[in-house]
Amino acid sequence: MIPANIIEDIRYRCDIESVISSYLTLKRTGSNLKGLCPFHSEKTPSFVVYPETQSFYCFGCGAGGDVISFVMRTENLDYVSAIETLAKRAGIALPDFSDGNERRDGLSRSRTLAMNLEAAKFYRKCLFDDNIGAPGRQYLVDRGLTVPEIKHFGLGYSPERGGSMLKHLQSLGFKPKEIQEAYFAGRGEHGYYDYFRGRVMFPIIDVSGNVIAFGGRILGDAKPKYLNTSDTPAFKKSRNLFALNYAKNSTAGYFILCEGYMDVIALHKAGFTSAVATLGTAITSEQARLIKKYTDKVIISYDSDEAGQKAANRAIVLLEEAGIDAKVLKMSGAKDPDEYIQKFGAEKFKSLIEQSRGKFEFKLDEISSKYDIANPVEKIKAIGEICSFIAGIYSSVERDIYIEKTSRDFSIDPKSVKADVESKRRKLSRENDKKRQGELIRITSGISDRVNPDFAKQPKGARIEEDVLGMIFIYSEYVTRAVDGRVLEENDFVTSLGKRLFTYVKEKNSDGGFVFGMLNEEFTQDEISRVSQMIAERNELSVNDEGSFDTYVRALRQESDKINSGGDISLEELLQKKRSGMKK
Ligand code: CTP
Ligand code: MN
Repeated sequence: MIPANIIEDIRYRCDIESVISSYLTLKRTGSNLKGLCPFHSEKTPSFVVYPETQSFYCFGCGAGGDVISFVMRTENLDYVSAIETLAKRAGIALPDFSDGNERRDGLSRSRTLAMNLEAAKFYRKCLFDDNIGAPGRQYLVDRGLTVPEIKHFGLGYSPERGGSMLKHLQSLGFKPKEIQEAYFAGRGEHGYYDYFRGRVMFPIIDVSGNVIAFGGRILGDAKPKYLNTSDTPAFKKSRNLFALNYAKNSTAGYFILCEGYMDVIALHKAGFTSAVATLGTAITSEQARLIKKYTDKVIISYDSDEAGQKAANRAIVLLEEAGIDAKVLKMSGAKDPDEYIQKFGAEKFKSLIEQSRGKFEFKLDEISSKYDIANPVEKIKAIGEICSFIAGIYSSVERDIYIEKTSRDFSIDPKSVKADVESKRRKLSRENDKKRQGELIRITSGISDRVNPDFAKQPKGARIEEDVLGMIFIYSEYVTRAVDGRVLEENDFVTSLGKRLFTYVKEKNSDGGFVFGMLNEEFTQDEISRVSQMIAERNELSVNDEGSFDTYVRALRQESDKINSGGDISLEELLQKKRSGMKK
């Protein structure tokens, strides 16, 4: 009932690490964080937060979930109230869910686009209007923009008073309800009102030149800083990028990926016309694939603060999964590309692009900056962390290259580095096996599995099912691959929980997109904990190669075929099936 894009916004703006840190003390261990579990009493920490997948899991009591589940549990709130709490924390304005605010009943894509085009013209007219446009013009000038850039990007202004978009669009024959659906109006107790007011307007234009959405920035410090068009029949923010209409024509050979509209505009102004930005959310796999249509190389140029660097970490993974060579640009002395160029100029920025680093160097930097390498004890710790990172990499060629580099950088025999990496890999897979075995024993020895009662009946199939689901929940690409590609169907899943989870993901996927947080709407906290366990187990050993997903899918199908054909089923199970079938 709450739109996917809002849940996505919340998950992006309410970083799980910072939210959970406000409730308990977390200590960093490698790329994850550990602390004492707030949901059961313990003396040694077994509660782990995974920033990469924005999830948590307690190996002690099995509680798990995402940032929304965490708030539901700790504050004892229902789903909607938890969303409201987090939205408030992040300064996200929520639409009214209560008054049957159902959309999608007719407004067509072409009519939405027509409205958008009229709106863009009108915002622009307002900006250049002698009387009402002055505050908007002043703001843009203060931010270093001149008329050519303003026109190039089609910027506009939604005035505080006068120039009502609602009135304007109505005068062109659009109905208030349509105007609301296209996000130019909201609806409150006193009727319809203008959605954007007192904001500088950035139109988002697709590769065919359609105006598909707007971002509006407040002139001062009021919140929310940006207001954006949510998904409409003509727009899905997870599938579009700001300035792609220009970047696609660039001959630079790479894209520059930024966080903000202003960063992109400043870069284009400085001659870097291949800069694009996501639309107020973390980059999605759909956006990565979209980029891949135009270039194989991306320089990630996010804000220099911790949040920006963390987001860069995640962006690398997604871009690489789409087959893009991703590098990260390191900036110091300025908070974002816009500020950097204002302060140091385009030439300096160009040299930053040339010095941008790949995933491993980026990680090396991050780790080295935490330790004093001159101190032997700290140096050992740093190398240990680097080896853990390398141990989690699937490709052995890649591991070898990084082992080489580490040994050079720290003047250590490559054999020692390799030995350390290999022992960490063995340890990881031992731990994983042990966990799996422990669980199998627990389940098959008759201790009932409340959450997934079918598990014990088909332990082998259920285990593979969890592998498949775990990967689907970590890597959104797999959702698309499994669902759109019809690689899997409900019947391939062997437990009722597995079937329900898959069916839910599939439904949501065809109905505007699935995001993890939605599970909170439909599944119990125990069931979500189980899902988090599937994710946590895979997080501990990063299994993210394409091959293994297909392998698991094949194995799952084999198992379900066996089960569906009744092949391997024991008599007792068959009887039980019959009995439960008769009850219905
Ligand atoms: N954003 C958003 N909603 C917010 C804050 C940010 O949608 N409440 C999106 C906008 O697309 C923005 C991007 O996230 O461009 C990056 O945010 P931020 O770094 O805060 O903004 P800047 O683009 O740097 O904006 P400015 O320089 O105007 O402060
Ligand atoms: Mn900025």
